[in-house]
Amino acid sequence: MALNLDPDSVAMSSLLADFNDLSVKNDAGVYSPEGLDIVSKIWTKVAAQQRLMYQATWLGRPIIQLPSDILVLQEIIWETQPDVIVETGVAHGGSLILAASILELMGRGKVIGVDVDIRSHNRKAIKEHPLSHRIELIEGDSVSELTIKKVRELIPAGSRVMVALDSDHREDHVRKELEAYSSFVSSGCYLVAHDGAQFWVWDLPNAAEHWSYDHPLNAVQQFLEQNTQFCIDEKRTRFGITSSPAGYLLKSEVS
Ligand SMILES: C[S@@+](CC[C@H](N)C(=O)[O-])C[C@H]1O[C@@H](n2cnc3c(N)ncnc32)[C@H](O)[C@@H]1O
Repeated sequence: MALNLDPDSVAMSSLLADFNDLSVKNDAGVYSPEGLDIVSKIWTKVAAQQRLMYQATWLGRPIIQLPSDILVLQEIIWETQPDVIVETGVAHGGSLILAASILELMGRGKVIGVDVDIRSHNRKAIKEHPLSHRIELIEGDSVSELTIKKVRELIPAGSRVMVALDSDHREDHVRKELEAYSSFVSSGCYLVAHDGAQFWVWDLPNAAEHWSYDHPLNAVQQFLEQNTQFCIDEKRTRFGITSSPAGYLLKSEVS
């Protein structure tokens, strides 16, 4: 089902009305793919208000992701077998540890984590983690030339590279990240633009109104128009529940 970018559709009342309508309009009723899509959006809104994305840990470190995104990231890493995973947005380090743990099982590879502000307690916990030998940290604005140069220098020639963008989710920043980091991504690997679901949840009491118009989905849409070797892999959001709708971008094997 195509992503509905109509702002009116994100209101809970509108979602519930759509859900009720399904039993009338569709033979499969609420048990259809459309039903799953609407229920998932409702779940995501309630979960966001309850801040459930802040409650998971991976091997001891808080990871700011929803469970099905954690599952899908694991699938992607195992299936595509990258040597290097670059992630912008470190926070407590949970997503770096997740990536490092799959690389550890593969017996090779490293994770490069970039964050504008790596808090000392988070840096210490990452450095002391049993998987720290697979992690390199770079402190800096992810779109500064210096940071991008440092990332480039840490990627060995010929590496198979995956990138996940999970830092500042404003459209302009994500657009710059997509432009800068997409060139690192290898054919057959993923460029993940996290947190497009901001657009689904902008009208919550806990949310920010600017999420309704200033969000990663606009940046992704523009990027895809100019970069046809990338396409949205919809099977990565097949569970419905996700922080990153339209965010799992696969680089085709032929560029
Ligand atoms: C959503 S958190 C990252 C969550 C993490 N990827 C995880 O899954 O646990 C966002 C992080 O992005 C960082 N950040 C914000 N703006 C940034 C920028 N311009 N460059 C690099 N990092 C930035 C913040 O300091 C914060 O730690």
